[in-house]
Amino acid sequence: MANVVRRNESVTKSKGESEAVPFFDLARQSRPLREKIVRSLARVCDSGQFVLGPECVRLEETLAEYCQVKHAVVCASGSDALLLALMGCGIEPGDEVLLPSYTFFATAGAVWRLGARPVFVDIDPRTYCIDPGAIASRITSRTRALLPVHLYGQCADMQPLTDIARQHKLKIIEDAAQAIGSELNGCRAGALGDVGCFSFYPTKNLGSFGDGGFMTTNDEELSQRLKMLRVHGETKQYHHQIIGFNSRLDAFQAAVLNAKLPHLEHWITRRQANARFYDRLFHEGGLHEHIDLPQVADGRRHVWNQYVIRVPDGQRDALREHLAQRNIGTQIYYPVPMHEQPCFKSLGYELGRLPRTEAAARETLALPIFPELTAHEQQLVVTRIAAFFKNNSRPTGGHAIGPPKFLSAKTGSSNSEVRDPRR
Ligand SMILES: Cc1ncc(COP(=O)(O)O)c(C=O)c1O
Repeated sequence: MANVVRRNESVTKSKGESEAVPFFDLARQSRPLREKIVRSLARVCDSGQFVLGPECVRLEETLAEYCQVKHAVVCASGSDALLLALMGCGIEPGDEVLLPSYTFFATAGAVWRLGARPVFVDIDPRTYCIDPGAIASRITSRTRALLPVHLYGQCADMQPLTDIARQHKLKIIEDAAQAIGSELNGCRAGALGDVGCFSFYPTKNLGSFGDGGFMTTNDEELSQRLKMLRVHGETKQYHHQIIGFNSRLDAFQAAVLNAKLPHLEHWITRRQANARFYDRLFHEGGLHEHIDLPQVADGRRHVWNQYVIRVPDGQRDALREHLAQRNIGTQIYYPVPMHEQPCFKSLGYELGRLPRTEAAARETLALPIFPELTAHEQQLVVTRIAAFFKNNSRPTGGHAIGPPKFLSAKTGSSNSEVRDPRR
């Protein structure tokens, strides 16, 4: 899709007053790396190899090492990675693939495009990932694969899925688009199933300057098939063993990613510090009585592609509007679950069929969490949320909502006791 800001993501700095907090500011990340990235792009320019080629091979080697797998295969987008992975695993028309309804459209769209049937499963409300307990009852003789999504940067509960997959001879395809670097019990996303699918969309933790994606696997044969599928099933030039399509990565994108990848761990550390700081500010302000904070399940290394709070009692949209009026960027991931999408109407899901998914779609709100976000900006976000609940308060068992401790109510300036968590 050509439109880069297609998901209504606010990727530019908010206009207006200096106290605005953007949901995302990609320029802050690129600025310090500008010279390095320009040198990488110049290298590609001089090489004359603009599609796949040595930059992509180098990127694949580094990604495989980072994700702790034997093979990484780059492609044109995270959406294509899902499609290629499903094709590589032999998913065919009429096959059923189990996946959460609470995800970005690409997860379900890839299944549908192959003529297979997406079977939507409810989520664990603590992690927003697929609920393993809801899977067994949805398996039929046509089920071929499980497609868990490591949503917001936290791994799904994979052990029960692995057991079910083994028992029913199913493939596991991980949608790890938001989860590069996340771990479950020390094992990295992308190494937990048969194949992992990742996105380099600019707002991801490792983003390119356009579209891009990759797949991971420990299966040598599958990696060769994925490499064939991304070039129309070609084995040598103009000889086609199987039917694929064009999903090659541009060398320019690989050059940008090769320059950025060494910084990924640092950016993840910043995101983790930002998440901790929000947790602390919300607790100090007594706001955890009004909103549910994100939870990190046992054994997880969360990489915080999103920091998502939950606002019950029908107040989510009013809070979002309140914040928008004060130039605080937020986003809703995802307001309409897959089983409610008009294009999947023929699958016959009724409203109320996946209640935990439907509640999440009504109540979740993503706050700014990008690595370069400052402590002051986080304080502003929390202060403005506190002001909302002060005016729209429901009984809290006597808990007082005041300005969070770190702020002087008069000036809104930060208290010297609170240090930037990243220093
Ligand atoms: C969960 C999930 N799956 C798949 C994708 C698709 O990735 P891309 O935008 O690179 O096609 C995304 C990207 O937003 C995503 O968040």
